[in-house]
Amino acid sequence: FEGMALVELAKRSGKSVSSVRDVLVNVGEKVESEFETLSIDLVELVAMEIGLNVKRLHSSEGAEILPRPAVVTVMGHVDHGKTSLLDALRQTSVAAKEAGGITQHVGAFVVAMPSGASITFLDTPGHAAFSAMRARGAAVTDIVVLVVAADDGVMPQTLEAMSHAKAANVPMVVAINKCDKPGANSERVKLQLASEGLLLEEMGGDVQVVEISATKKTGLDKLEEALLLQAEMMDLKSRIDGPAQAYVVEARLDKGRGPLATAIVKSGTLVSGQYVVVGSEWGRIRAVRDMVGKLTERATPAMPIEIEGLRGLPMAGDDIVVVDSEERARMLSAGRKRKSEKDRLAKRIQEKAEPVESPE
Ligand code: GTP
Ligand code: MG
Repeated sequence: FEGMALVELAKRSGKSVSSVRDVLVNVGEKVESEFETLSIDLVELVAMEIGLNVKRLHSSEGAEILPRPAVVTVMGHVDHGKTSLLDALRQTSVAAKEAGGITQHVGAFVVAMPSGASITFLDTPGHAAFSAMRARGAAVTDIVVLVVAADDGVMPQTLEAMSHAKAANVPMVVAINKCDKPGANSERVKLQLASEGLLLEEMGGDVQVVEISATKKTGLDKLEEALLLQAEMMDLKSRIDGPAQAYVVEARLDKGRGPLATAIVKSGTLVSGQYVVVGSEWGRIRAVRDMVGKLTERATPAMPIEIEGLRGLPMAGDDIVVVDSEERARMLSAGRKRKSEKDRLAKRIQEKAEPVESPE
């Protein structure tokens, strides 16, 4: 929606017009008429205050919807080679090429394919990050690379990763790693995966399997091709024009530059200078940097960026919403802070009320 009149909001939320008006007055908003259309930001703010969920839908009417790169997360059991794989892939990335092999840690990187297509890898392996993001509603990942060591086979965290991906409805591409090792047995891994219900391509399913060695750097091109094919099948597209909807992948505090957030734009275009609300923090984007650390004016879908100018440190999975003024940014941020504080208290009260089950 594009906004809503106060009466409509009151009706939908089952609250009285005067109580909704009170909320608005509390945040310093004067409402001349109850039929006046409130902006999306205000509707969200009010909704938050009265405990209503609103989903932002930017009007995509007439907006250009274009293909975009896939965003990929690597998951797998401890020591199966997630970090090694990301390192190897990063060396084939645009950043590595442009920076002459020296890459800073930015939380995500882009690999450009000879065909001109590209793939964005989130440089945050681990189920914790994936679940945290999903729990916060951030569906940033399009495809999961499930790394399984050929000498070790399917292990508890392999299964955990599989169930995370399944729950999030994110397709997987299997990378059987360490194929260079003497004890490697990729056929065994395939059988194990199949017996866990994974429908592998060579057995008539649609899950692609690629045999690789992250340390010897073999099969990486095959893996990239498989990911590209998977992405093509998914027909990933995003709105390019208009205000960005983005997600934080990682955030850190830099001594000189303040809070920095690695983010991925989901739709629209993020422009330097815009006011944003990020989770419950806010700021004005002072600088947008691409993966090589180069300043850029704008960021389009699936492009990993680092933004500077936030007033506080956001969390992985936080959404980034563009607002039109500092007041709105402050207001929305304050509203969200109040909301999360309320939720936190409510949760604590609930936890106290629920007696802890004693083991039999
Ligand atoms: P955690 O982050 O601890 O869960 O591990 P990880 O999955 O990131 O594994 P990591 O990349 O750290 O690799 C674990 C060990 O396996 C390291 O000693 C790597 O050198 C080794 N390793 C990773 N990939 C390969 C491979 O393809 N072949 C061989 N021979 N060793 C590998
Ligand atoms: Mg690791």
